[in-house]
Amino acid sequence: MDQLAPRHRLDPLYERVSRLMWRSDFDARFAEDIEAILDLKRTHNAVILAHNYQTPEIFHCVADITGDSLALARRAQGLDADVIVMAGVHFMAETAKMMNPDKTVLIPDGRAGCSLAEAITPANVRSLKAAHPGVPVVTYVNSSAAVKAESDICCTSANAKKIVESLGVPEVIMIPDEFLAQNIAAETGIRMITWPGHCEVHERFTPGEIRQYRRMHPGVVVLAHPECPPSVVAEADFSGSTAAMSDFVATSGAQKVLLVTECSMSDNLSASHPETVFVRPCQLCPHMKRITLANIRHALETMSEEVVIPAELQIPARRAVEAMLAAS
Ligand code: 13P
Ligand code: SF4
Repeated sequence: MDQLAPRHRLDPLYERVSRLMWRSDFDARFAEDIEAILDLKRTHNAVILAHNYQTPEIFHCVADITGDSLALARRAQGLDADVIVMAGVHFMAETAKMMNPDKTVLIPDGRAGCSLAEAITPANVRSLKAAHPGVPVVTYVNSSAAVKAESDICCTSANAKKIVESLGVPEVIMIPDEFLAQNIAAETGIRMITWPGHCEVHERFTPGEIRQYRRMHPGVVVLAHPECPPSVVAEADFSGSTAAMSDFVATSGAQKVLLVTECSMSDNLSASHPETVFVRPCQLCPHMKRITLANIRHALETMSEEVVIPAELQIPARRAVEAMLAAS
């Protein structure tokens, strides 16, 4: 792109996003914060974990570990760092804190929530358990630590089928994502007691829209996140977690893909897969988008906002996450 730009230490980082933005734009909008964040990470022995829905300048230029919710929970264990910054939403930061009770875990904007996590309370879980005694509670990681603490085991979209099957029972309480539970019920034949929580991003997609994209882009391969309604997943060629979609793009040889999920995924993947055409229905997660380079920098400068798990929740919530990691 801009051949005249001087070389400096950001050159290799710019290379990673060079298909998405001009060098002049990168320099004007992002370079100063990226430089500062790189220095602050060294000063504080900090690592940045970033979810696949983060914007490319975060995902490709300052993150140390990237991935889906499962990868972020797994990789949060045993990190050789004093400070962890979660470039993601609050439940992800809580999970990182559970796995690292002695480290400082920061979220750059504590308001970065999730419609699924907000859909259910611990009292709701206790009512479900009272109404269905003995039925195991499988809780999606998109939930608060307090809800996890009431649960037998957690799951993510990457391992939900495996976790549910590992229990060896005909019926489970699967909360709070109604669509994920319905999609897993269809795959496994296991009865699900569900809760009417939905992802505000994925619930917006419709089967008609997918059919329209197929008409407009013949040959497109459709990948849908399992938080989508079952009628949308039924229209897709593949359904899986954000990491599974990423692997599919890397290994399937598909030339043209439609990712039925948050749209930064397509930006991040298109930066590293120039040979693939991405058809982009743009749905943004307003919570993920609260995280910016500027507030990551501010978090590292001020060591805030620190994530705290109430002492009484730490052990039961972590037990549900560890049960998931052991079973997957
Ligand atoms: P993944 O675990 O598939 O990355 O999904 C997390 C999420 O919030 C999707 O909306
Ligand atoms: Fe929550 Fe949906 Fe945003 Fe994921 S995309 S964080 S499930 S609201």
